[in-house]
Amino acid sequence: MQVYGLLGNPVGHSLSPPMHEAGYDERDIDARYVTFEPDPDAFDAAVDGARALGVRGLNVTVPFKSDALAHPAVEADPLARRIGAVNTLDLGGETVTGHNTDATGVTRALEHHDIPLEGAGVVVGAGGAGRAAAFALADAGVDVAIANRTTAKAVTLADEVPGASGHPLDAVPDLVADADLLVNATSVGMEEDVSPVPAPALHGDLAVLDAVYTPVETRLLRDAADAGATTVDGAWMLLFQGVEAFERWTGVDAPVTEMNRTLRAAL
Ligand code: ATR
Repeated sequence: MQVYGLLGNPVGHSLSPPMHEAGYDERDIDARYVTFEPDPDAFDAAVDGARALGVRGLNVTVPFKSDALAHPAVEADPLARRIGAVNTLDLGGETVTGHNTDATGVTRALEHHDIPLEGAGVVVGAGGAGRAAAFALADAGVDVAIANRTTAKAVTLADEVPGASGHPLDAVPDLVADADLLVNATSVGMEEDVSPVPAPALHGDLAVLDAVYTPVETRLLRDAADAGATTVDGAWMLLFQGVEAFERWTGVDAPVTEMNRTLRAAL
C-alpha cells in the first residue's frame, strides 16, 4: 500500500484525506492519505522518518512551508523557490523534490472554467497565497497588479514578479475597472461576511477567483455574480492544488469530478 500525507501543526480537520482517497478509490490505487502533526521544531526529522518508512508524498502546511524549502534534502523546483514556499514533497524518487501546487491550483482552477489566462489581472493580497497567485498568473501571461493592505509587501512582491506592479489596497477599484481577472488572496471574507473589493467596482467583463473556501460562497463572489462576473470559488483552488499533487505523486490523471464531489461534501 502507498502512503501519502499532510504535515502541519495543527493539521486540524483537513479536507485532503477524503479528497485524495476518493481519487485513489476511483483509480483503483491501493493508497492511504494520513495527517501527521510533528512538533514545530521536528520538521527535518519528520521528513527523514517519512522517507525511511517509504511514504511517497507529503503535503506541507503551516508552519512548515519555509522549512520544506530550506530542508537540505529537498530540491525545490524553480517556481517554488521564486514563491519562497514548498507545499508538496515528492518522496518517490531518488531525491526529494519540492513544489508549490498552490500556484498551479490558481491557474488550473481558472482554466477549468475556460477563463483565458491573458489580459490584466489584479491579485489582492501579498502573503503566501498572493505570492503563489501572482507568480502563477504572470508566468501564464497575465499582466499582474498586486494590491495589499501593507503596501510595501505588494511593492516588494511586484519587484520579483515579471511585469507586475504593486499598489495600496485603496487602488483596487481603479485597478479592477480595467481588469479581466481578479483574485482575492487575502483572508478577508473568512471570519466575517465582508469583501476586500467594493461591490460597485465589480463588472460583467471580470472573472473572479476567491481563495477563501470557508465559506464557499463569500460576499465577494456574491457581489461579483450580481455584477455579472464569472465566479470561481476557493474550493476549486483547493481541489486543483490537490489534483496537481495527486498527479505528480501517482503519475495518473486525477479523477477531478470524483475528487471535487468528495471535497464539496466534506466542506
Ligand atoms: P496566506 O498564506 O493565506 O496568504 P498570510 O501570508 O498570512 O496568509 O497573508 C494574509 C493576507 O491577507 C495578507 O495579504 C494580509 O495583508 P497584510 O500583508 O497587510 O497583513 C491580508 N489581510 C489579512 N487581513 C486583512 C484585512 N482585514 N484587510 C486587508 N487585508 C488583509
